[in-house]
Amino acid sequence: MKPAVVILAAGRGTRMRSPLPKALVPVCGKPMLWHLLEAVKPLRPSRVVVVAGYRHADVKRWVDGRAVVVEQKQLLGSGHAVAQAEGALKGHSGDVFVLYCDTPLVRTRTLKALWARHRQTRSAATLLSLRLDDPTGYGRVARKPDGSVASIIEELDCGPVERMIRDVNAGCYVFDKKRLFAALARVRRNPKKNEFYLTDAVGILAASTRVEAAAAADPGELVGINTRLELAAAQEALRRRILEDWIDRGVEIRHPASTFVESGVRLGAGTVVEPHTVIEQDAVIGSGCVIGPFARIRGGSRVDDGAVIGNFVELVRTRVGRGSQVKHLTYLGDAVLGRNVNVGAGTITANYDGVRKARTTIRDGAFIGSGTVLVAPVTVGRRARTGAGAVVTRGHSVPDGATVVGIPARIHASRRNG
Ligand code: UD1
Ligand code: CA
Repeated sequence: MKPAVVILAAGRGTRMRSPLPKALVPVCGKPMLWHLLEAVKPLRPSRVVVVAGYRHADVKRWVDGRAVVVEQKQLLGSGHAVAQAEGALKGHSGDVFVLYCDTPLVRTRTLKALWARHRQTRSAATLLSLRLDDPTGYGRVARKPDGSVASIIEELDCGPVERMIRDVNAGCYVFDKKRLFAALARVRRNPKKNEFYLTDAVGILAASTRVEAAAAADPGELVGINTRLELAAAQEALRRRILEDWIDRGVEIRHPASTFVESGVRLGAGTVVEPHTVIEQDAVIGSGCVIGPFARIRGGSRVDDGAVIGNFVELVRTRVGRGSQVKHLTYLGDAVLGRNVNVGAGTITANYDGVRKARTTIRDGAFIGSGTVLVAPVTVGRRARTGAGAVVTRGHSVPDGATVVGIPARIHASRRNG
């Protein structure tokens, strides 16, 4: 039977000191919540419930129908947060994953392994544990003599012996739904933090039945992001992982240490990404392209097969057609280039007049001379040419096959058939 998923995303994230609610803080270009929603998709959950609280409306707006959002009106702890999801889980029976939005690096395969273990042992709950050299800040997993979980003790409640336990709660669980809500109903407020802890529900279940802890194969996936420093470390780990995944799929990354490819980007096999290159926000790069060195491909951009984007080139919201070359020192914003266009060094689209962004269209086979400025909106026709240093002024179109030169650019010659 399909599982349901509850993602806790109500926390304020005070320690991040971010203007955004923590669930929406980006990690490699996408909000923490996005990463979790992606990770659970292949589990084909019967439903996904996001518990939002701090800046609830912003979270709900971002989720935009991708999951059910319920509001936790008062932030009374992780146990209280899960309890808010009960109504939204009506009609679901069986297993429920509970995940924390500040643990966004967890992989699908890890969740699948956790679930398999849970079904195999038929436990009331199965959680992921981590063995850390420095367990500071995490809930410690206390064990029964048979190795199953006895309880989870939060840092503030640890005595000196418990503090030494290096086996910690990763914050990633599968529960039997019925037993979860029965246990939550019995959780009392923790006197120190005045909160209802989900981890106390684990202890309550363990007192009467069996709770399993499975050690996470890769602890790096499960570090919690509570501070800016932890965010930086998590982004670095994810950056590496993204590059390794692309390398596995046939992309050549010449120098992983200086390459940034954000989550959500797509790269075709056989493409080469040269050093010091940044590819952002859902950009789509085809096969057999060369990108960089020192290139920045920004959001809304698409580079078709076989195109070359060279040194010190920035693209934003720009489409570069098949086989086109933009090799040196160029800025293209809001531009659409056809096939086999050659853009000379130092070409600039002046796409922003301080109020509006305007479109530049460069048709198939056009040749843009070095140092051309294209004051958008402009169109350069098929196989048209601009001379070095030409300034094509706003609202002009260079006819197919024409050559324009000068400032402002004027027709210098035309060829037949464009
Ligand atoms: C929690 C666990 C701890 C575990 C660690 C792993 C509890 C009590 N402790 O500690 O055992 O080792 O994660 O990273 O669960 N949240 C709400 N509503 C609330 C409070 C929290 O939705 O009222 C959400 C937060 O947004 C977050 C999650 O619950 O996603 C965990 O809360 P957080 O305060 O980060 O708990 P930790 O102290 O990290
Ligand atoms: Ca946390």
